[in-house]
Parts: sequence; C-alpha cells; structure tokens
Amino acid sequence: MKVLITGGAGFIGSNLAKRLVNDGHSVVVLDSLLRGNKLDKETYASVEFIKGDVRDQETVIRASKNCDLIFHFAAVLGVDIVADNPVETMDVEVIGTRNVVEAAFINNVKKIMYASTSGIYGHSAIENALTEEVLVDPRTSYAMAKRYNEIYLASHHEEKGLNVISLRFFNVYGKNQDNRMVVPRFFEQASEGEPITVFGSGKQTRDFTYIDDTVEACVRLIDTNGCHIVNIANEAEWCITDLAERIKKITGSNSDIIYLEAPKKRYDYEVERRVGSSDKLLALTGFKPLTSLDEGLATIYSENYNN
Ligand SMILES: NC(=O)c1ccc[n+]([C@@H]2O[C@H](COP(=O)([O-])OP(=O)(O)OC[C@H]3O[C@@H](n4cnc5c(N)ncnc54)[C@H](O)[C@@H]3O)[C@@H](O)[C@H]2O)c1
Repeated sequence: MKVLITGGAGFIGSNLAKRLVNDGHSVVVLDSLLRGNKLDKETYASVEFIKGDVRDQETVIRASKNCDLIFHFAAVLGVDIVADNPVETMDVEVIGTRNVVEAAFINNVKKIMYASTSGIYGHSAIENALTEEVLVDPRTSYAMAKRYNEIYLASHHEEKGLNVISLRFFNVYGKNQDNRMVVPRFFEQASEGEPITVFGSGKQTRDFTYIDDTVEACVRLIDTNGCHIVNIANEAEWCITDLAERIKKITGSNSDIIYLEAPKKRYDYEVERRVGSSDKLLALTGFKPLTSLDEGLATIYSENYNN
C-alpha cells in the first residue's frame, strides 16, 4: 500500500512510519516539523518526506497523490501549549482535516484514519471503563476540535462512502515521546534528581497505553472498512502518584514528589478519572493492548537511561 501519515515526524507518527516501512508499505510523511523530526535515520531515508503544513491544501493534495490510505495525525498538542494557543490548535485540526478529506476525494483515497483523543470524554462520570457509546464531554479547544472532526469525517462516510476510523488514543507513552507529556517529564525529573512535579492531588487516574500496542492497533485497523470510532486503551487505571513512584523506583531516584496546584488554564484538562474499554478494538481486530505499565516503563528506562 501507499500510505500518507500527516504528523509522521511526531511521536506516534514516527513509530507508525517505522512499522509500515518494515511491513513493506510505501510511506509518505507530511509534517511541518513544529516539534522536530523524530523519525530515525533509517526510516527517514525510506519514506518520502514532505515538509509542509496540513493547512495548505495544495501540499496535502500533493502528499496524498496515489495513496490508498491517510493516517491523519498532524496536530498541536500538550496541555500548556494548547491552553496558550487555542486558535492555532483548532485551525490545524479543522482546516487540516478538511484539506485531508478534500485531498482524499481528489486523489481517490478510499480511507482516512484520524487521531482523535480520549480527552473528548472530558469529565464524563464513569463507573466502568469508558466505551465509545458514553456521552462525550469535550471542553477544551483541542477536545472540541477532535470531536468536531469525528463527526465531520463520519458525515463524509454517510454522504460519500469514505471509509473513516477515528482512533481515540488514551495517554500513549514510549519511544520518541518528548517532555510535553507526563511520562517523559517524570523520567527526566527523576533521572536528574529534580523534584517530580504533580499537578493536583496525584490521585487522578489515567489509562497509559504503550506505543507498540498503539501502533499494532493502528496497523490491525487498516483492514477495517466503514465508519468507526475506536478506543485505543490499555484498560488499566493508574494514578499519577503511582506513576511517579514507579518511575522513581525504576530510575533509582531520590527525587521528592511535590504537588502543585494546577494553574487555572489547566482546569478543563484535569479530569479525575479516565480508563477506556478496548472491547470494540478487540471485536474488530482480535487484538487489544496488553503491555503493562511496568513493562512499558522498564523498556523506556533500558532504551534511554540504562547506559
Ligand atoms: N500522545 C498521546 O497520548 C495522544 C493522545 C490522544 C491523541 N493523540 C493524537 O495523536 C496524534 C499524534 O500525537 P503525538 O503524540 O504523536 O504528537 P506529536 O506532537 O509528537 O506529533 C504531531 C506532529 O504533527 C506535526 N504538526 C503539527 N502541526 C502541523 C501542521 N500544521 N502541519 C503539519 N504537521 C504539523 C508536528 O510537527 C508533530 O510532528 C495527534 O493528532 C494527537 O492529537 C495523541
């Protein structure tokens, strides 16, 4: 297959590009390099790399020529970055996705797989793991734009038969992630002996999904057609204090864990509980993420810090 990955130089995109190249696909990466280039040398040399902005329609049309599938991952993210740049966040999402859809029609691309987020569940109260049917509660510019795009894409399936899959990623972590996100930030603080900074009580929970499982889920869903929203979740709930303590233990760090009041701009992101069900992913693909947090953290440590 010929596959375009927008945002393919980023954390998830670079891991996916490597896997698709290894699987023998022809891969095009379109990325503005807003966050640098996370593709390793070998993968970079094997893909067609286009430096450009998804908000530029001509660029997206050129990048998707002769493609069978588009993974649309380009986005502005990171809680503080999004809170400080809500307009750019929404523009990249909304204009970028419209351009991807139009390019798909112009170039006869049959399928789009879009990176949505578990953030759209917002403060939805839950007793059990969140399923895709739970009423969503997007409150931030980022989550709102992601939900808009899920519906926008679904409408193109309804009207024009485009195959669309929205992937609701739950706190992905692993190789190539940078310190906008909590896992690499805690690793950095712990390994440098600095205080590990937790916003809020530390009792808030998240469902951490390992990158290799995330990529595997993306690859398995390539064969699924129609219109679907699918959680990519590990079905395991960990509180942030627990995460900090595990990283302290793995790195052998003496860092203190300190608790800071979340700045007001973070309020809408500070959800108390989040854990996803991967039943739908399992039903569609026969696969669900299984890497435990301890296994995932140990791999990060051995790849980055154990030298
Ligand atoms: N990492 C997670 O835990 C997580 C969770 C939920 C959803 N997601 C979604 O998954 C996707 C990938 O996330 P990631 O963690 O790899 O983030 P990332 O920031 O590492 O990657 C995003 C990439 O998009 C590129 N980009 C940004 N604006 C662009 C533009 N206007 N034109 C072209 N490229 C642009 C960046 O340069 C970057 O390489 C995003 O859509 C994100 O919203 C990620």
